[in-house]
Amino acid sequence: MEIKRVGVVGCGLMGSGIAQVAAQNGYETTVREVSQDLVDKGLKKIEGFLTKGVEKGKVTEDQKKEILSRLKGTTKLEDLKDSDIIIEAVTESMDVKKKIFQILDKVAPPHALFASNTSSLPIKDMAEVTSRPKNFVGLHFFNPVPLMKLVEMVVAETTSSETVETARKFTESLGKTVVTTKDTPGFIVNLLLVPFLLDAVRALESGIATKEDIDTAVQLGLNHPMGPLTLLDFVGLDTTYYIAEILYNGYNQDPRYAPPPLLKKMVDEGRLGRKVGKGVYDY
Ligand code: CAA
Repeated sequence: MEIKRVGVVGCGLMGSGIAQVAAQNGYETTVREVSQDLVDKGLKKIEGFLTKGVEKGKVTEDQKKEILSRLKGTTKLEDLKDSDIIIEAVTESMDVKKKIFQILDKVAPPHALFASNTSSLPIKDMAEVTSRPKNFVGLHFFNPVPLMKLVEMVVAETTSSETVETARKFTESLGKTVVTTKDTPGFIVNLLLVPFLLDAVRALESGIATKEDIDTAVQLGLNHPMGPLTLLDFVGLDTTYYIAEILYNGYNQDPRYAPPPLLKKMVDEGRLGRKVGKGVYDY
């Protein structure tokens, strides 16, 4: 099956990035948000990224126009009816995701693939509310989507091998490297990343070093692009807390995944990270 048209549900941080890379790689792309205001904000984010790309000499002004001409925003799920693949990137609520996929199941053509960008919820549970669990796969992108090369492809028990191959070909056509993972809590990256971020908070909590020195140690001592506390702010403290709880419950209350009290305190104080201007650091 050849994918020509792409639908994206959600035009926030992840959805806008996914819609952008789809349009950038030649796909007619329709992205849906719940209100016109959010559609406009999402499309503006994409335009802003492309404008910076022009300034950096990564794309030309003509390419930018062409990419934007392949992108359509909408508030109606029905407008995704011609999509060959629909990628969902809405809030991490199983109820919300299930409702969306039930509607999409009625709207989308029978051959269309469904994918969720969830970082932590079981793909099988979403697949089973549709009449096409075989066509359902997880495609977990990383932030910032246009710059990060990896996509985790989550193969559920219900996913067919044809779907795996089509989804792989499509994701590679976006310029991404695909790794496949089972449908287990945290997949690969968050299973490894979250305990690392939690340990950085524990190191800060126990007074081993300042936040700046913890970050510098990892950045220069391990050659990471960002220190763990800066990365925590980048990912979001609430998001990390949420994934940690899923891992903690999914892996028999293993203390490695238990969110430390300092993380909870910062989340309770509204220090959610870069997106609100304050997290471990102030921005
Ligand atoms: N258009 C095109 N290219 C752009 C661009 C734009 N608007 N903005 C930047 N770039 C390019 C730059 O030109 C540069 O390219 P070259 O290497 O060819 O020069 C490259 O992108 C890096 O850009 P910058 O130098 O401006 O930025 P940086 O070096 O400060 O890197 C970063 C920024 C990519 C975010 C880097 O800090 C990084 O990789 N951080 C870690 C991010 C990470 O770990 N993300 C995953 C989080 S976990 C997650 O998302 C999953 C989950 O479920 C929680």
